[in-house]
Amino acid sequence: MRFTVLTLFPGQITDFLKKSITGNAMQKGIISVEAKDIRENALNDYGKVDDTLYGGGTGMLMQCDPVYDTWKSVCDKDSKPYTVYVSPKGHVLNQKKVIELSKKEHLCIVCGHYEGIDSRVIDEICDEEISIGDYVLTGGELAACVIIDSVSRMLEGVLPNEEAYSNESHMGGTLEAPQYTKPEDWHDIHVPAVLLSGDLKKIEEHNRIMSYIETMNKRPDMFERLEITEEDWQKILALKKTLCYSS
Ligand code: ADE
Repeated sequence: MRFTVLTLFPGQITDFLKKSITGNAMQKGIISVEAKDIRENALNDYGKVDDTLYGGGTGMLMQCDPVYDTWKSVCDKDSKPYTVYVSPKGHVLNQKKVIELSKKEHLCIVCGHYEGIDSRVIDEICDEEISIGDYVLTGGELAACVIIDSVSRMLEGVLPNEEAYSNESHMGGTLEAPQYTKPEDWHDIHVPAVLLSGDLKKIEEHNRIMSYIETMNKRPDMFERLEITEEDWQKILALKKTLCYSS
């Protein structure tokens, strides 16, 4: 999958993504990431890309032409990339959207800085606007990295096997069950015995019910949206009773 990021700070994108799993995915040729410097299409020799706001207001706004010309330079002759503007005004990213984006061939992410970008060019080139949460960042670069990271790990060959992500938090509307590694006892806290039993069916069932309990405890808003059968309710209540956690 091809990612292109339009940004005033290309180094922020490449420095982050060249490491770890996204870096390996690039080396394997599963993804390519190109960070295009919007300033290369500046309006003068001093690198001007922004100006004051019409109607007043503090700060500077990125102008249409440098963004548009940079976007045009990454469009193929007869196809344009699916283009996303990252901003706190967008729909908040979730796993469903991540999976949807992972089906695109070429994803272009437009990053604003300062007060943002002139709305006219956003309307002209962007298919949608995405936020990574209800808070304001100094620029869109972190959001672009979050999108590329979360989308990349959905692509075949990036993670060791499908199981690596299919049980994970948010994949089925629930959070993943708590996980443990050696030692079996730590600070007098024991790993649940069933996980040491070697009985794969029992372990899977334990984790399935624990993932409901984890969701109930940590994300009641997600838990409310689940449809739980009477049988599972009984299992949840029974398992909850056996837990030594105080919550
Ligand atoms: N740019 C600034 N804040 C942002 C946010 N919350 N999400 C995406 N892009 C942003």
